[in-house]
Amino acid sequence: MPLYIVRNDITTMKVDAIVNAANESLLGGGGVDGAIHRAAGPKLLEECRTLGGCRTGQAKLTRGYRLPAKYVIHTVGPVWRGGSHGEQELLTGAYRSSLKLALAHGCETVAFPLISSGVYGYPKDQALKVAVDAIGDFLLKYDMTVYLVIFHRAAYTIGSKFFADIAAYIDDNYVPECTDVQKEQNRYAAAFETAATEPVEWELRAPAPCAAVPDSLEESLGQLDESFSQMLLRKIDEAGITHAQCYKKANIDRKLFSEIRSNVHYKPSKPTAVAFAVALELSLEEAGELLEKAGFTFSHTSKFDIIVEYFIAHGNYNIFEINEALFAFDQSLLGG
Ligand code: AR6
Repeated sequence: MPLYIVRNDITTMKVDAIVNAANESLLGGGGVDGAIHRAAGPKLLEECRTLGGCRTGQAKLTRGYRLPAKYVIHTVGPVWRGGSHGEQELLTGAYRSSLKLALAHGCETVAFPLISSGVYGYPKDQALKVAVDAIGDFLLKYDMTVYLVIFHRAAYTIGSKFFADIAAYIDDNYVPECTDVQKEQNRYAAAFETAATEPVEWELRAPAPCAAVPDSLEESLGQLDESFSQMLLRKIDEAGITHAQCYKKANIDRKLFSEIRSNVHYKPSKPTAVAFAVALELSLEEAGELLEKAGFTFSHTSKFDIIVEYFIAHGNYNIFEINEALFAFDQSLLGG
């Protein structure tokens, strides 16, 4: 099931559980912790007092009280101390323990803030990467819908080398749409000028030989090309993976996948089609073919396309990392 990266206030999320970036005392604090306690009301603190604190990298669960969420999972991320004090393992642990606890309580939807990235000082782009990797790993094995809630757009900086490389790739490849329109107009105008000054030579050609013309409309329709759904199922077979492995890797919801599977004429959205191309680890050319079946092409007038192309060209088929980059550049995300 999918991971969604969203911009929101976590206290308003209608999910089975929201995760709190707490401290070891579990007795409240500032940041998202303060916001959750304020929204849930004083009973939350009462229950927290009975828990005996929580160690860094671990998680504990309470009810949600006045929150729209049924539960609050309190976890403690590490304080950033330069990165060589096991911060990454502890932060991964905080996500894993929270997800395990959510699973044990039958939660189907869970929302996380970007743990440790506020008061605890974990660099935001690195915190996001740890979050996406830990959640992504979990979702390959378990069915759950997870929201990663980014509070402030400004809080999220595209400062790392990773994003700088993508930004450079976009700069090198991006063709602004207006340039294309202009070129097209020039070409069009040039064609008319030529037509006006040069005589046009008409040539009668025999029609190119073609396959036998079908006798009936029914027969014509029988010659329809392979559809998106058919190509997808064939490629999954050829890749030797199961349907579940494929839709999980594509960050696609099981229900949507069964709809595509059972409707031979299903036309997916572009992000869905691309998500499958990524899950199947197709080359750029093969990805283009699959997209074509859904009526799309890759184009250098779209940042979305260039970012996807960057990852495929670099053999990086991690959908969550691709989504991280798409999110950073304000583009639609793949899959869910
Ligand atoms: N919804 C979603 N995200 C939020 C919200 C919100 N309402 N409010 C803040 N954030 P922080 P930490 C984001 O400081 O770094 C507390 O005092 C915020 O922008 O809340 O793990 C605890 O008691 C940031 O990106 O948690 C601990 O003592 C992210 O949530 C300590 O802070 C986490 O920021 C924990 O520090």
